[in-house]
Amino acid sequence: MPPTGVFFWEKSMKKITVVNQFDIYFAPEDHKSLLEAMEEQGVRISNMCHDGFCNQCRCEITEGEVEYFQDIILSEPEKYILPCSCIPKTDLTVIPD
Ligand code: FES
Repeated sequence: MPPTGVFFWEKSMKKITVVNQFDIYFAPEDHKSLLEAMEEQGVRISNMCHDGFCNQCRCEITEGEVEYFQDIILSEPEKYILPCSCIPKTDLTVIPD
């Protein structure tokens, strides 16, 4: 669900297109992980550890780049991301696993 009510677009915000769900907006100033931002805006992503190890939150990335803020264990990092452990560097298009 996109933000409701009064919405101020900040230049630093990133648009996250979640295939088969809806678009959300990520504000770096909120100091949240991509997973936290997705959950807050109603996107359903299965998750468990929030530490980059279980791979439950894994999403395929088809467009854009992310930056990790903690160490992760992930095979095929060019194809997948772990939203619990990263923030977007650009607008993204992701497909939840
Ligand atoms: S919730 Fe475990 S890797 Fe993201």
